[in-house]
Amino acid sequence: MSNLVFYILWLGAVANAITLPKSYDTVWTTQSNNSAGSMPVGAGDIGLNVWAEDGDVLFYIAQSGAFDENNSLLKLGRVRLTMDPNPFGTGCSFEQRLLLNDGYAEVKGDNNTVVKIWVDVNTSDIHIGIDNAANITLRAAMESWRTSGYQMVTNEQHAVPAIPLPYQYPDTVNFTSGGVLSFHHNYETPLFDFQAKEQGLVDPESYYDPMRNNTFGSFMYSPQLDDTSISYGKYLNTSYTAFTLSSSRPRSSFQLYIGTAQAQTTEIGAWQQNLINKTLQAADRTQASSLQWWHDFWDRSYIIINPDAPSTDSGFQVGKNYQYFRYLMGCNAKGQFPTRFNGGLFTFDPVLTDNTTAFTPDYRRWSGGTFTAQNQRLLYWPLLKSGDFDIMEQSFDFYGNISPNSRKLGQLYFGLDVGLTTEQLDNSGLPNVFEYNANTFQYNTTRSYLYPPGVDFNDYLSWLSDTANEFADMVVLAKSYGGVDIERWTPFVEYQLAYFDEFYRQRNGLSVDGELILYPASGAETYKLALNPSSTVAGLRAVIADILNFDAPLTKGNETYYNQYSARLPPTPLQPCPGSPNLICIAPAANFSFAENTEPTALYPIFPWGEYGLGQPTNLSFAYNAYFHDNQSASYHGDNGWRQDQIWWARMGLTDLAANNTAYRFADSTQYRFPVFKGPNYDWSPDINHYGSGAIGLQEMLLQTFAKNNTEIRLLPAWPTDWNGYFKLLAPEQTVVSANMTNGKVSDLCVEPEHRRDDVVYGQE
Ligand SMILES: *[C@@H]1O[C@H](CO)[C@@H](O)[C@H](O)[C@H]1NC(C)=O
Ligand SMILES: *[C@@H]1O[C@H](CO)[C@@H](O)[C@H](O)[C@H]1NC(C)=O
Ligand SMILES: *[C@@H]1O[C@H](CO)[C@@H](O)[C@H](O)[C@H]1NC(C)=O
Ligand SMILES: *[C@@H]1O[C@H](CO)[C@@H](O)[C@H](O)[C@H]1NC(C)=O
Ligand SMILES: *[C@@H]1O[C@H](CO)[C@@H](O)[C@H](O)[C@H]1NC(C)=O
Ligand SMILES: *[C@@H]1O[C@H](CO)[C@@H](O)[C@H](O)[C@H]1NC(C)=O
Ligand SMILES: *[C@@H]1O[C@H](CO)[C@@H](O)[C@H](O)[C@H]1NC(C)=O
Ligand SMILES: *[C@@H]1O[C@H](CO)[C@@H](O)[C@H](O)[C@H]1NC(C)=O
Ligand SMILES: *[C@@H]1O[C@H](CO)[C@@H](O)[C@H](O)[C@H]1NC(C)=O
Ligand SMILES: *[C@@H]1O[C@H](CO)[C@@H](O)[C@H](O)[C@H]1NC(C)=O
Ligand SMILES: *[C@@H]1O[C@H](CO)[C@@H](O)[C@H](O)[C@H]1NC(C)=O
Ligand SMILES: *[C@@H]1O[C@H](CO)[C@@H](O)[C@H](O)[C@H]1NC(C)=O
Repeated sequence: MSNLVFYILWLGAVANAITLPKSYDTVWTTQSNNSAGSMPVGAGDIGLNVWAEDGDVLFYIAQSGAFDENNSLLKLGRVRLTMDPNPFGTGCSFEQRLLLNDGYAEVKGDNNTVVKIWVDVNTSDIHIGIDNAANITLRAAMESWRTSGYQMVTNEQHAVPAIPLPYQYPDTVNFTSGGVLSFHHNYETPLFDFQAKEQGLVDPESYYDPMRNNTFGSFMYSPQLDDTSISYGKYLNTSYTAFTLSSSRPRSSFQLYIGTAQAQTTEIGAWQQNLINKTLQAADRTQASSLQWWHDFWDRSYIIINPDAPSTDSGFQVGKNYQYFRYLMGCNAKGQFPTRFNGGLFTFDPVLTDNTTAFTPDYRRWSGGTFTAQNQRLLYWPLLKSGDFDIMEQSFDFYGNISPNSRKLGQLYFGLDVGLTTEQLDNSGLPNVFEYNANTFQYNTTRSYLYPPGVDFNDYLSWLSDTANEFADMVVLAKSYGGVDIERWTPFVEYQLAYFDEFYRQRNGLSVDGELILYPASGAETYKLALNPSSTVAGLRAVIADILNFDAPLTKGNETYYNQYSARLPPTPLQPCPGSPNLICIAPAANFSFAENTEPTALYPIFPWGEYGLGQPTNLSFAYNAYFHDNQSASYHGDNGWRQDQIWWARMGLTDLAANNTAYRFADSTQYRFPVFKGPNYDWSPDINHYGSGAIGLQEMLLQTFAKNNTEIRLLPAWPTDWNGYFKLLAPEQTVVSANMTNGKVSDLCVEPEHRRDDVVYGQE
């Protein structure tokens, strides 16, 4: 923490604080049709979807860490505010506004009615203030759809009949202490118990399990609401019970507080009392510190494009919606768990995303508690240059916390003290319960020498353990970019890397050249039963180079070891381009048996690994050919979701292509009402990895820092001449770069510390 305080002070000294353009606010002058027309509000570890419908103001409450017995990420509930006489009735004036720079929302109606909704960044309490020039009565309902348990149906969770359909355990909801207390406690661990058996764990109680005794919920209270009542209703597909607080007489002003909490605890009574006490004291906490937090957050870094252009200008929308991506991440800045790629804390009723999923608001595709690393990483890579190290910590902690479990798995299956991770792992670090044995469940086939216990028996995920290498690299780079003290995460980094060295040496020995033989391995989910995938070898090479160059604090290996490890790594494979054999392409692997998914991992040496790209000594045409002249992977191109084409284009200096896709990605949504709610694409709505990938691409168009062992500072390598404005971004060696972009040129360049100005190069020189 002290590092962070230092960092903020140090950034503050560099430039005057900025205020986001007022034109970045989202303003609606009509009410919404349903929850898909909601806007995100949040802070701390809370996300709300706020909307007005048929004269009521509503919001969902989501909380980081609200994992139930089945590893679903449950909403805490839905709140409905109803007023009489209704300032939001038919024919009334209406405005709903997200004040982006201040991080809160207001809904305005007749008789100068203002409903102000904000979340306390330090305590995660939700504050609602209602002011009205006349006198009104208010009803505030906590609508719960989990007052009783039920048996889930097929497809409600990712499962097949081989796994018993999960039971949805109920919440406890009732009036107490003048308010509504609503909470969930995990008394049992059915998922973990099933997994432990399925995966042959020894001594399962010794494993870290964040679902064990997890307790989460809310307490809603208002000093002005003294009556209580219970009623029943149905919203879209879901029946609910409403626990309503109402005012016994009309008033012109109301304050409503909803305290939230989450902890792994067996002291449920004390936990409730703390939550109630905290909420009863919420009135004493003003918005000042939350406003200050958002102002400091915006000043850490920014990319502002054509700020005075009309809101339809595509450059304007890119700059604005890049800030909105940061906003979605900022709402969970203090969350214990990473923001999920498939909707984060802002999913809405699932039927509005996919009309075949008529489930409760707790549903999202790819689940709420299985972390798919290929997708998660895209949310966190851009936070290096944006300087959001406090937010990055949650994904470092995620891996740091599961690392002891990963080591137990390495020991259990292979007798090695290495960390064994996989692509789709639960928040316990165990492989997803279905994916681990998917081929058995689906095809009734059995494991063989190619698929030993410990490895996902699954055509997509088998042997895919290298995605955590990207988080390992982010840990090391956070030390360089932000001076972050990374000591508590380097065991994760080292045991993760050790798997590839120790496991493959044990299984295959070394080649006659003394190199590792990475087989069976996997190029993402695509190149299966592969030998030396380029995504793995370029990745290991980059992480090890960063460990050495940035002096990562080591506990398992030492400098000699990492130099030897690096020397054992095979070269990134090349091949005659499939379809154009007179050209040379980076190959996805030295060899592979079959292609399963559609990730062109021959391009991963460009991004994330930076082995190829502007300023690097490697032959950029091999990368270019792999994109444009490899007909095996030509159909693996794409422009949305987790696709990364525009990042590769930016790193190859292909300005027009990169700018076109970036403009497309960041264009205001036409699918949903809020400008950065798009999806589901490959995942779910709102599709946050769509914007994470977009943010990386935009940064790479503006500032590249990977070349020359992360020392080069390359400005405007792929920047269109009609995107004018200003930016501030971070670079390695705790460097802050700020400047203006004017007609494709940099002006007012400021580089701190000053000596780093020597590392600046421009364009594609
Ligand atoms: C509400 O739905 C109608 C009919 O589909 C549509 O025309 C209108 O644009 C929607 N309103 C909003 C605010 O999305
Ligand atoms: C506005 O206030 C007036 C006078 O106080 C009241 O009669 C009227 O019902 C109010 N209208 C709404 C929409 O709240
Ligand atoms: C609202 O009610 C208070 C008393 O409860 C009264 O003094 C005040 O005049 C009322 N205001 C309006 C605008 O009716
Ligand atoms: C809710 O609390 C009331 C008393 O306030 C009690 O009578 C009722 O049984 C409780 N309901 C449940 C479901 O616990
Ligand atoms: C806490 O979790 C353990 C392990 O699942 C369980 O045995 C125990 O009953 C739980 N305690 C409470 C109070 O839920
Ligand atoms: C909650 O507040 C009450 C009254 O102020 C106090 O007696 C009690 O000890 C507090 N409980 C906790 C858990 O803080
Ligand atoms: C469901 O969505 C699909 C694809 O978006 C569409 O073709 C279909 O008509 C929709 N079905 C219903 C019942 O709305
Ligand atoms: C799966 O295979 C086992 C053994 O090969 C066999 O006994 C069983 O009937 C098969 N089950 C199904 C559903 O085909
Ligand atoms: C980059 O770092 C690696 C590993 O420390 C080193 O072998 C290499 O020479 C460095 N390259 C440059 C250009 O400094
Ligand atoms: C450093 O690592 C090498 C290679 O693993 C090992 O042989 C050597 O003993 C280590 N040196 C120290 C001082 O631990
Ligand atoms: C620009 O991007 C859109 C969306 O991906 C695509 O349809 C279009 O072909 C692209 N245009 C050019 C010139 O690349
Ligand atoms: C840089 O941009 C800022 C903000 O628009 C502006 O105040 C300043 O004049 C610009 N400087 C130059 C040299 O264009």
